[in-house]
Amino acid sequence: MRAVTISSPSLLMRMNRNNNLWTALLSSVLLSSLSAAEVLNVYSHRHYEIDQQVNELFKKKTGIEVKVVNAEADQLIERLKSEGANSPADVLVTVDAGRMQRAKSEGLLQPLKSEVLEKATPAGLRDPDGQWYPYTLRARVILTAKDRVKPGEIKDYEDLAKPEWRGRVLVRSSTSSYNQSLAASLVSALGEEKAGDWAKGVAKNLARPPQGGDRDQIKACAAGLADVCIVNSYYFGLLLNSPDAAERSAAEKMDIVFPNQDNRGTHVNVSAAGVTRHAKNADNAKAYLEFLVSPEVQKMLALGSHEHPVSMDLSLSPTLTAWGDFKIDTATFPKMGEDQAKAVRIFDAAGWK
Ligand SMILES: [Fe+2]
Repeated sequence: MRAVTISSPSLLMRMNRNNNLWTALLSSVLLSSLSAAEVLNVYSHRHYEIDQQVNELFKKKTGIEVKVVNAEADQLIERLKSEGANSPADVLVTVDAGRMQRAKSEGLLQPLKSEVLEKATPAGLRDPDGQWYPYTLRARVILTAKDRVKPGEIKDYEDLAKPEWRGRVLVRSSTSSYNQSLAASLVSALGEEKAGDWAKGVAKNLARPPQGGDRDQIKACAAGLADVCIVNSYYFGLLLNSPDAAERSAAEKMDIVFPNQDNRGTHVNVSAAGVTRHAKNADNAKAYLEFLVSPEVQKMLALGSHEHPVSMDLSLSPTLTAWGDFKIDTATFPKMGEDQAKAVRIFDAAGWK
């Protein structure tokens, strides 16, 4: 709770003259202060059913109500900029480290020191100044059709650009931050020119112009439209565990490949949260960020959205256990934000819509 301070001497003098006024004013200030302390305003780009359950559990444990404004990360960043000090937002949540890096560089976040968060999150996947912390990992993987692609036939992202995959690849639009961050990792690892060649090769290999989300690529691949697709692993998990039998059977036709295991590792992005620069409920924000990395919430997210726990404790979910452990590309991660701009240029030049 925030301390109540009244600094105006004239106001204090009037209050001393009128004790009733003092009591009334103080209690109204305290009340508004108390009610403000019970709220946390979150600007979030996440859109998963499990998030509501997480927020309800937070309220049950702390009494703090989480109010969420949902929009695309770029819109939320613009909104924070235009609202400035008047912004009601306490926390920014996005599903892209590049967007968090940009929010930081625009001065929209504040540093948060927390031993809990430092212990729970890998140093290579968080902001070195504590302006944002990850709470789930999101691997961009290759799915292969079991009956048309042999194990080991495709191993690296780089393979997707090779001529033998002509007409056999599916991926969503280059406007997705998921593809921009993947291409950014290739810019960082290979240089802009080679990453540009890679994007051209993949664009040439597509079985159809990009359309739909990651789930649509899996379903189309399973239906035989292509042999491999690039998706975030949790969409595969969602389909494997879907209440819809058709979705389950589509997913069961596919194998998962964690790319680049013999070299730099698989590209991952993060769900991440940071305390906004002008947060009115900064203590609540800290409690919320620490709550998100608690074992209880990590298990809810692993089972509910099939994202990887930030601790990589795969035992939290049978699906994640079955997929197994994998090497993460941490080397390219810190430059994701600045390399995303290059990735967009590369996609344009490659004609990857
Ligand atoms: Fe997603």
